[in-house]
Amino acid sequence: MNLRERSNASTTSPPIGVGIIGLGRIGALHADHLMNAIRGARLVRAAVDPAHKKKLEAEGYPIPLTDDPGALINDPEVEAVVIASPSTFHYEHIVLVTEARKPLFCEKPLADNVPDAMKAADKIRTSGIPFQIGFQRRFDPGYRRARQLIEQGCIGVPELFKGVTCDRIPSVDYLKTSGGLFWDLGVHDFDAARFLTGLEIESVYAHGAVLVDKQLEEIDDVDYGLVILRFSSGAMGVVHNAWRAPWGYEIRAEVYGSKGKVVTELDEKFPTRLYDQRGIVIDRHTLFTERFRDAYRDEIQAFVDAILAGKIPSPGVDDAVKALLVADAATRSRKSRDWVQIPL
Ligand SMILES: NC(=O)c1ccc[n+]([C@@H]2O[C@H](COP(=O)([O-])OP(=O)(O)OC[C@H]3O[C@@H](n4cnc5c(N)ncnc54)[C@H](O)[C@@H]3O)[C@@H](O)[C@H]2O)c1
Repeated sequence: MNLRERSNASTTSPPIGVGIIGLGRIGALHADHLMNAIRGARLVRAAVDPAHKKKLEAEGYPIPLTDDPGALINDPEVEAVVIASPSTFHYEHIVLVTEARKPLFCEKPLADNVPDAMKAADKIRTSGIPFQIGFQRRFDPGYRRARQLIEQGCIGVPELFKGVTCDRIPSVDYLKTSGGLFWDLGVHDFDAARFLTGLEIESVYAHGAVLVDKQLEEIDDVDYGLVILRFSSGAMGVVHNAWRAPWGYEIRAEVYGSKGKVVTELDEKFPTRLYDQRGIVIDRHTLFTERFRDAYRDEIQAFVDAILAGKIPSPGVDDAVKALLVADAATRSRKSRDWVQIPL
């Protein structure tokens, strides 16, 4: 049964077979959701690098593993693919999926450089495959509610966006493949800026510093960054990214408007506070996989639901490209110390 027939079939049709590439920090969570929490889909195969395959097999990983992503993508049991491999492999894996013409959920970014990302976007568009990019904040209740309030006109005309993402620094090996601070962390804030305000970012000015780990200087990256945004409406924005968060994972978005402002931050791990001689003690999330656990599940559910309903998944390839171009412009601005225009 192909996917078109599935969308016309009754709700009793068998679940979609999904193959995942990458079972690291984020891939393992997507795989867990596909095995245990997603309606209408089941995980049938996973591809990882050879050393990881050996380790997972020794631990008794419950799903068949391969170290050949091409074999996974072309496996007839695999009807849809999730890419959660390192960013340096996204382009090559996207090309294989578009050639196999299978629905694709891809972790951000589309590629680790702009020319490959644009080629990947073209291939996705011309192949016509259902495609969703991994901007999970769009599925978080806090961000969704903020968007809804802004759409309802509760804050009037958006005039200023503020976004914060601070996290503990990952390994330098990971950072080497990440594209840099603005490609890895900032891209979520740039997407949130577009999603919440409904506005396009026209130009950026960025400043960065290495204050956490000197090794970042060797890879021409920074661990602190500030990006000033200019939206095409004339509205302003600022994004604060840092690989430093000893108090726990921190994200925040604020949109100030002509009539009010909306703020979303949900860093409390439990709806519980301890009041004692220290004052008020709150448990905080320490990992993005904790803070956005449900959003990561809901984005995959939305992808599967869209495929089954024959609808176009969202956020799609245009959203993937736009946020990536802002991240790239911010990276170039940091280096050139000039305002950089986002290509339209
Ligand atoms: N949306 C988010 O919030 C979010 C969060 C974290 C990571 N990510 C993205 O997810 C991707 C993976 O990040 P991560 O932190 O999980 O990485 P990771 O290093 O923890 O895991 C990478 C996984 O890919 C596998 N792998 C490596 N090379 C491979 C290859 N050539 N073919 C197949 N598998 C291969 C590894 O075995 C491992 O399972 C990155 O692109 C990153 O930008 C997104």
